[in-house]
Amino acid sequence: MTKEASRRQTWSASSYDEHARFVSDLAGGVLDWLAPRPGERILDLGCGDGVLTAQLAQGGAQVVGVDASESFVRTCLDRGLDVRLMDGEALTFDGEFDAVFSNAALHWMTRPERVIAGVKRALKPKGRFVAEFGGHGNVAAIVTALTATARRHGVDSAPAHPWFFPTPEIYGSMLGQAGFDVKRIALIPRPTPLKTGMASWLRLFNTPFFEQFGDGFDAAVKETEELLRFALCDAHGNWTADYVRLRVEAVKS
Ligand code: BEZ
Repeated sequence: MTKEASRRQTWSASSYDEHARFVSDLAGGVLDWLAPRPGERILDLGCGDGVLTAQLAQGGAQVVGVDASESFVRTCLDRGLDVRLMDGEALTFDGEFDAVFSNAALHWMTRPERVIAGVKRALKPKGRFVAEFGGHGNVAAIVTALTATARRHGVDSAPAHPWFFPTPEIYGSMLGQAGFDVKRIALIPRPTPLKTGMASWLRLFNTPFFEQFGDGFDAAVKETEELLRFALCDAHGNWTADYVRLRVEAVKS
């Protein structure tokens, strides 16, 4: 395995269900922007464990989901959903969807021009792209703490920030250049309570960073958690993640 491949984030659908259910629970706003209509053909890009894919299908849309995680795709197939294993940076659809929807996935795709080109290709003329993902400033305290832990121990700090969190200006301009008409785009601060705590968030969402520490994995998680306690833990021990979302609606022009 290459160094690069060994650093890839992987998913366990059961851990995700236990520690990250809030991701789909908080998708009401972006679903409102999508406003799906019965019979529409919708692509759910980075569909994860398929909770929202199923919700869209139950509303009468014909939904296809794609995800790059085998564990998530297996879970979706078990739910009876039409979901395929596919890299979001290499979508293979051509002019077949009324809408492309994405929640909490695009920040994992660090070559956004490829994603946007694939979304455009997948849409019918005048098709809409409605997405929400991490925006500029997302999990800033967490990234700073991860970087501090890396520096203290002399390990690579690049895996502390493996995500794409653009400003509305930058993402809007990328969409414009690709031939989309941006209807609305906004940064939405969303401090998010973590019912199962910060350590489980760190373990789930940045495993490759902590794998650099080998046997020191747990100690590095603890050290990062302690760096964050003042900023993100209240006097009762409740943790909050400093999420900032970027939400966008654009139409293929
Ligand atoms: C997010 O949903 O914003 C997010 C999830 C995992 C890591 C970083 C950000």
